Amino acid sequence: MSTLLKLKKINLKYQTGKDNISVLKNIDLIIKKKETVSVVGESGSGKTSLIMLIGGLERPTSGKIFFQKQEITSLKEDEVSEIRKKNIGIIFQSFYLIPNYSAVENVALTLELNKFKNPEKEAKLLLERFGLKHRFNNLPSQLSGGEQQRVAIARAIAMKPDLILADEPTGNLDTENSLMISDILFKYVKEEGSSLIMVTHDPKLANKAKRKIKIKDGKIK
Ligand SMILES: Nc1ncnc2c1ncn2[C@@H]1O[C@H](COP(=O)(O)OP(=O)(O)OP(=O)(O)O)[C@@H](O)[C@H]1O
Ligand SMILES: [Mg+2]
Repeated sequence: MSTLLKLKKINLKYQTGKDNISVLKNIDLIIKKKETVSVVGESGSGKTSLIMLIGGLERPTSGKIFFQKQEITSLKEDEVSEIRKKNIGIIFQSFYLIPNYSAVENVALTLELNKFKNPEKEAKLLLERFGLKHRFNNLPSQLSGGEQQRVAIARAIAMKPDLILADEPTGNLDTENSLMISDILFKYVKEEGSSLIMVTHDPKLANKAKRKIKIKDGKIK
């Protein structure tokens, strides 16, 4: 299978006051098309930082990141965000839905911004697929955690991204909802042939991915 993403000698340091902490050290990583990967590691080990780097939301201190052969680390901010909008769907532990937008509007907005035809219709189809037909017009505050995360997933995959990044997608959910959300995610990835990189503390969830990587002392074990 061909390469989707390549990290080459990635270093990430954070400067806080006088302290300079080295979070990721010389990371080399290749993610192939259609591959599912889980990322585990202790709190503070750099899992979220890795997701942010891959999503182009953070820049490495040194090293290069290639997405579909294009080096994104050398691009300007707006060029990176263009690539991200079209090709990468990101799901966070806190769902970050727009509070005064309904479920349908939250998903449709992404499609609208990307000039899709019939954004509302598409949004409804996606939400229906995730069992939210009866919740189209609810605001996030009127939805349960599991429902909010399903809306967030629908929004992240609306553009049919080649890569889905999920940072503790079930971290705020109970066991039953965690299972449902992860089933939805893995089913979607399989059907659409996207790649998935998922950070999780849950060993059961981590085992659903084809490959498991562990970050320790800033390195991949
Ligand atoms: N913007 C920042 N400025 C300074 N230090 C930061 C910043 N973001 C993260 N860090 C530090 O970098 C390290 C890695 O953080 P990161 O959020 O990637 O960890 P994590 O593995 O996702 O942890 P958790 O499992 O708790 O979510 C931590 O020590 C954190 O304090
Ligand atoms: Mg984290």
